[in-house]
Amino acid sequence: MTKVLFVCLGNICRSPTAHGVFAHQVAESGLSDRIRVDSAGTSGWHDGGLPDSRSMQRAADHGYDLSFIRSRKVAPSDFVEQDYILAMDRENLKDLQKICPQEHAHKLRLFLDYADLPVSEVPDPYYGGNDGFERVLNLVELGGVALLDHLKKNLQ
Ligand code: 4NP
Repeated sequence: MTKVLFVCLGNICRSPTAHGVFAHQVAESGLSDRIRVDSAGTSGWHDGGLPDSRSMQRAADHGYDLSFIRSRKVAPSDFVEQDYILAMDRENLKDLQKICPQEHAHKLRLFLDYADLPVSEVPDPYYGGNDGFERVLNLVELGGVALLDHLKKNLQ
C-alpha cells in the first residue's frame, strides 16, 4: 500500500480538495486498494471541522465529494507511516521540514513538483474570492493526474 498525505495550513481548503479529488482519481483508476489518501494541516486551527464551504461547493460543482473529510493537524506518526507527504506551498513545506525527523525528510515534497506546470505552489484561497477556489481545483486536478502517473510507475 502506498500512502499519500496532502498538507496545507488549515486543512480546510487546499489539502482537503487534493484529498477528495485525488481519492476520486485513484478510484477511477481502480487503484483504491493500492493507494491510500489522507490530508492534514500544519496549524491544527480547524481540528475536527469540515472543509470550507466554498471548497466543498466548488468541488461538488466539479463532481467531487469532500464531506467525509475532517480537519486534523499533522501528527508525528504521519512522518513514520506516510510514504509521500506533499505540501501545497513552500511555507507548508518549510513548516513540515522543521518538525520532520531526518530519516523521513525524503518523503517531503511540493505536490506540484510532479506536474509539468508553470507554477509550483497551490496558492492559499482562504482570504480571496471565488477565483482562488476555482484555481485550487484546477491545479489540484492537474497535479493529481501527474502524481498518479508517477505512482503507477512506483507502486509498492
Ligand atoms: P488552507 O487555507 O491552508 O488551504 O486550508 C486556509 C484555511 C484557514 C486559514 C488559512 C488558510 N486560517 O487562517 O484560518
